[in-house]
Amino acid sequence: MSESKTFYVNEKSGVDTSEATGSESHPFATPSYALFVNQDAKILVYKEIEEKPEQFEYQEISASALKKAKKGAESLKKKAEKQQKLKEEKDNLPKVSELSLSSIEEDSSLPKANKIKLNKIQENIDKRVIVNGWIHRLRVQKGLAFITLRDGYGFLQCILTGDLAKAKETQELTIESTVSIKGTILKLPEGKSAPGGVELKADYYEIIGLAPSGENSFTNKIQEGADPSLLLDQRHLTLRGETLSAVMKVRSVFLGAIRKVYKEEGLLEVTPPCMVQTQVEGGSTLFKMDYYGEEAYLTQSSQLYLETCLPSLGDVYCVQESFRAEKSHTRRHLSEYTHIEAELAFLTFDELLTHIETLISKTIQYVVEDPVAGPLIKQLNPNFQPPKLPFQRMEYIHALDWLNEHGILNDEGEPFKFGDDIAEAQERKMVDTINKPILLIRFPGEIKSFYMQKCKDDPRVTESVDVLMPNVGEITGGSMRSYDLDELLQGFKSHKIDPAPYYWFLDQRTYGTTPHGGYGLGTERILAWLCDRFTVRDCSLYPRFTGRCKP
Ligand code: 4AD
Repeated sequence: MSESKTFYVNEKSGVDTSEATGSESHPFATPSYALFVNQDAKILVYKEIEEKPEQFEYQEISASALKKAKKGAESLKKKAEKQQKLKEEKDNLPKVSELSLSSIEEDSSLPKANKIKLNKIQENIDKRVIVNGWIHRLRVQKGLAFITLRDGYGFLQCILTGDLAKAKETQELTIESTVSIKGTILKLPEGKSAPGGVELKADYYEIIGLAPSGENSFTNKIQEGADPSLLLDQRHLTLRGETLSAVMKVRSVFLGAIRKVYKEEGLLEVTPPCMVQTQVEGGSTLFKMDYYGEEAYLTQSSQLYLETCLPSLGDVYCVQESFRAEKSHTRRHLSEYTHIEAELAFLTFDELLTHIETLISKTIQYVVEDPVAGPLIKQLNPNFQPPKLPFQRMEYIHALDWLNEHGILNDEGEPFKFGDDIAEAQERKMVDTINKPILLIRFPGEIKSFYMQKCKDDPRVTESVDVLMPNVGEITGGSMRSYDLDELLQGFKSHKIDPAPYYWFLDQRTYGTTPHGGYGLGTERILAWLCDRFTVRDCSLYPRFTGRCKP
């Protein structure tokens, strides 16, 4: 038990180092530090006297400040323990030698080395190569150093021996430093394991950028299990981790695969504007901006622009950022997301549904067959099975029956009735139970957007579709569009939208109208499903959501 004692804390004149003793003449600067020095200490804080402004004296610490100080002391204690551990680790390293890396010369009699990326290891077995990258893992022993090198293309275990291992700089190497290593790639002997079943026996290496050690070391900044918000502050560093980088690679392959399918299906890529003056999906989620003195928005959807391309370009698609000022703080909502949208002319609702399921299933097939993404998906989502065609089609009205039969209530705690929105939680319960992709179709007009085509056999509902996937819910929303001018204007009216700024969109119904339809697919949502991520935030490079627009 530490002895109880009084410590003085003066924010202005005190210091939190061993120079202070906590006495009145040598006070500490913070109550946290005082408690860190002695957890049972009584603390007097130098502060203004309540009834005498600008007069100060030492007063007993308030209960709330004491609570905060205890937390602060706890984290100072953890930090100190960590530093002590690092110091011990450093002390336990073999004695730093005086041999300097710069005094070691490359053996000019060795064969010339070719520079390779780490996805070309297997083609270079038994060859002398140059590999460049970041130190992902590191183990330095007496006369031997193991480096797992990472370059974004792959990983390679490199072994330094002899003088290279003994050199002072090798002994002081750190994780995330960059190095350029020359050596020969060798197949691993039986019983040993490393990425790709090979290792590089180094004969020469240089350090390009030494990363910090100690308190600022990479592992100290990015701690496993740290608060997600702290990790997001360090997103530029967390992106180096194996999981996040795997998702980003799958993302890239996915975008390539979907473009390939669009090409096969005869759709042309276009790039609509992000700065717009019309809404698509409701005013409440618009991000407003000042556009040279006029009100403008960041686009919610490129749909209306895609529709205008049909007469000149045929069926079109885009891969464009969409923006939603979502108030909801859910695991499937971002403020900015990569929206894949397509618009197709002269087709029926049924053809649109077939197109959507074909697109999704073909794309997923290409991604799982890809030599980079396939193994990463196995790693991230070992039980993943590409969905089988055709997807189950379920009408909204039958979904209500399903929910009511399964005792799932609406947001008011009542059984579902026609016209109710099926909220995220209920939708999830349904698709998770059915555990297969669902094309949920024919939603009532009043819970959907202004532009949706009414069903001919039942004008209460629209030719609309949401694609639902287990574990994430809706990944795609689409519909046939009202192509009769009067019916469309009726839609504007019932949704209380002024049609005037939409003259260019309405003209599509005047200058040669046609049945047409399209959809929007949320890239991060489909990735969350494919890579089994808890939230769409893990599927975006630098996610933006309520309260976060950095780094
Ligand atoms: O259902 P939404 O709002 O439909 C549209 O924007 C249509 N105009 C698209 C079209 O027909 N061209 O959005 C389409 C998809 C959703 O299914 C979802 O996957 C994704 O976009 N999405 C979001 N993803 C992440 N964060 C958000 N805040 C999202 N809002 C929609």
